Amino acid sequence: MKILVIHGPNLNLLGTREPGIYGNTTLTNINAALQALAGELGIEVAFVQSNHEGGIVDAIQAAKTDCDGILINPAAYTHTSVAIRDAVSAVAIPVVEVHLSNVHAREEFRSKSYIAPVAVGQISGFGVDSYLLGLRAIFSHIKLRL
Ligand code: DQA
Repeated sequence: MKILVIHGPNLNLLGTREPGIYGNTTLTNINAALQALAGELGIEVAFVQSNHEGGIVDAIQAAKTDCDGILINPAAYTHTSVAIRDAVSAVAIPVVEVHLSNVHAREEFRSKSYIAPVAVGQISGFGVDSYLLGLRAIFSHIKLRL
């Protein structure tokens, strides 16, 4: 089983970006934690970070050929992107949406997700654990379906 992990805009700045909201963990650390969990689960993970909507659409489309599922933090595009939502619908492989912060406890505009209705589910508010819980969730979801 292979899962593509997609990190959206500004997540390359984790560690220094608004640490009161997003914590001090860097993206490199998050990917290392996911890689370690993937090893425990006996699965493969690949990582992409893009600050560009089209780059994320391209990554989702490419995943159709060689991945079984996608773990995505669409970041700000969560709240705006019909293009990313349509890409998720188009590839028809399972997607789990994650957020470090609790998007439902922040500004009103963050509680709207264009992606969640076409995802298997959304995990929000647990910091780095959102990603780890998300990887476990997509792993179980795919295993049950296989
Ligand atoms: C985020 C929440 C989004 O609202 C925000 O735009 C981000 C990060 C999170 O992980 O908490 O960039 O997706």
